[in-house]
Amino acid sequence: MGDERPPESPDGAVVKFPVLLVMLGAPGAGKGTQAREIANWLCVPHISTGEMLRDAVERGTVTGKRVRAIMESGALVPDDLVCTIVEQRLSQPDCERGFILDGFPRSVHQALFLDGLLKSTHRGSVRVVNIRVDRDSVLKRLTGRRMCPKCGAIYNIYFNPPRRDSVCDLDGSSLVQRGDDTEEAVGTRLREYERQTKPLIERYRHMGALRAVDGNADPKTVREAIVRVLKAS
Ligand code: AP5
Ligand code: MG
Ligand code: ZN
Repeated sequence: MGDERPPESPDGAVVKFPVLLVMLGAPGAGKGTQAREIANWLCVPHISTGEMLRDAVERGTVTGKRVRAIMESGALVPDDLVCTIVEQRLSQPDCERGFILDGFPRSVHQALFLDGLLKSTHRGSVRVVNIRVDRDSVLKRLTGRRMCPKCGAIYNIYFNPPRRDSVCDLDGSSLVQRGDDTEEAVGTRLREYERQTKPLIERYRHMGALRAVDGNADPKTVREAIVRVLKAS
């Protein structure tokens, strides 16, 4: 698997495997939108802790019951719980060629945990893309977001509407709004981001792992910028 020829672009540059990529960015920065597309393109798993937790809530598992109210409020769920989920997921065979982490790590504790995990499994160190967006557009992105409950496709009623109103282009499911996209929860999520996640930017910059990408551009332009980062490192 590991020596498969990586995707090549018209300029001939290639992406080196394994791809150990972390998507950093505020709520609504476009982490999920970008991670989904790039993971598909590279054939590596898109690992979104938010999606995994929402799935647990949906299925009513023990974890789901524990985190439901926390997530609805916009607060972060406990580090130990998220770290366990990520450790299990990264040990799956489909992660051998790499992975795209979306929404993890988002605290210093989680970043240290990830470093230790990758070291103990001899996987090398991560590359980190920080998607930067203006605060004003984040609010519109979050309140306008609609999700497909079946396939996870992400839409936006202002910026990226589905072809038919409230219906997924890919499978015809009725789109839903996320429970934490209320004004109140968004406020909490942005505060949590500032307090717990933003310090990671400096940390990864210091380690030489960070590359910033302008997330205010249209999704295709943002994707091209991320791909350039992947090819350059
Ligand atoms: P999570 O699901 O990770 O949410 P988040 O970090 O708040 O980020 P979002 O998913 O809201 O935004 P995104 O950057 O993915 O943007 P998207 O691509 O959807 O976490 C949710 C909760 O789970 C947390 O609050 C916490 O409780 C818990 N949790 C998860 N991980 C955790 C962890 N590690 N530790 C502790 N707790 C954790 O785009 C947003 C919208 O903008 C969409 O409508 C999209 O169509 C649109 N859009 C995207 N790109 C563009 C563009 N370039 N131009 C215009 N519109 C765009
Ligand atoms: Mg997301
Ligand atoms: Zn769908």
